Amino acid sequence: MIPQLQDPSPVSLDPYGWIVRLPDIDRDFWLDSVLSLQYPDFRDLEAWAEFRAISRRLADQHLTSEIRQCLKTFFGPVGCEYLIVENLPIDPHLPLVPLDGMRSSGKQGVSEAVIAGLIGDRAEIFSYANEKAGSPIHEVAPVPGLELSQSNAGRTPMVYHTDGAFLPARFRPKGLLLLGLLNVDTDTLIMPAAQLMDAASPDLLDALGQPWYRHMQPASFPGGAVPNPRPILWIGKRWHYPQVTTSSSSIEPINAAASDALSEFRRLCAHLTPIRITIQPGTALLFRNNRVLHGRNAVGGDRWLQRAYFADSLEPFRTATNADPLAFCFDTQSLLQWS
Ligand SMILES: [Fe+2]
Repeated sequence: MIPQLQDPSPVSLDPYGWIVRLPDIDRDFWLDSVLSLQYPDFRDLEAWAEFRAISRRLADQHLTSEIRQCLKTFFGPVGCEYLIVENLPIDPHLPLVPLDGMRSSGKQGVSEAVIAGLIGDRAEIFSYANEKAGSPIHEVAPVPGLELSQSNAGRTPMVYHTDGAFLPARFRPKGLLLLGLLNVDTDTLIMPAAQLMDAASPDLLDALGQPWYRHMQPASFPGGAVPNPRPILWIGKRWHYPQVTTSSSSIEPINAAASDALSEFRRLCAHLTPIRITIQPGTALLFRNNRVLHGRNAVGGDRWLQRAYFADSLEPFRTATNADPLAFCFDTQSLLQWS
């Protein structure tokens, strides 16, 4: 369990992550400054860019130097696996939890401004056209009728996975930001690739590092081409840190050795103890999508998080899809053409 912070200084939780808390006075002034900010129609690219710019400026005024330094480190080339920022402002008057996975038009724009401000110009927020109608900020809440789905709309425990595993690496999120608006009882689970590597046998590591696994598209991405086979767990060539990619839906091993390794990998995941984080209202969890698996417990009570994907640069996405220079929303079927 994550300890409750009283001190605003960053605290290292384990070899993988940090937690830091915004003082009340900074939270309150930040809230005052964003209350009048109007959340734009994100399909208006210039309006969305302006919202991001204003949110970035306001965040920089109210985040402490310690938190800005933590964010800079987290988003840097080596960074750390995850970062928790507590005591952030959220909307004082939240509407009812959305039942359709989409943003309520009556919602204030506080939490969106906080998300855009935390990411700032340290990374680029982006979305996939096939998910949540291309919205750059996703509503993560159970949707009636989809309770059993392995997706952000479900209530059933979500298996360990990384997001966008079916896509080529350059089109997957570098990381995710989850901001709590309401959360009664659901833990988010984090399993670092380094923890898996430490626990896996040499033979298993060798098998998981082979391009033997097809990561199929999850339920939240309808339709599509069959992805190329890729590895699951390996050491990155550039920065030499452990990396992991695995789909939340089916993974199709291409041979018997891959099938055995996948079964052993799943047993290993079930055996290891994850990092458990209950994302409370006003808490943001940021994590590196290629360096940790994530999952969640069953959702018993109300739960409403907001989520944003981020990447270092959107130029590879825009070039691949011949998109507008301000575009942030990309069709996964077009991206899959570049597998
Ligand atoms: Fe996910």
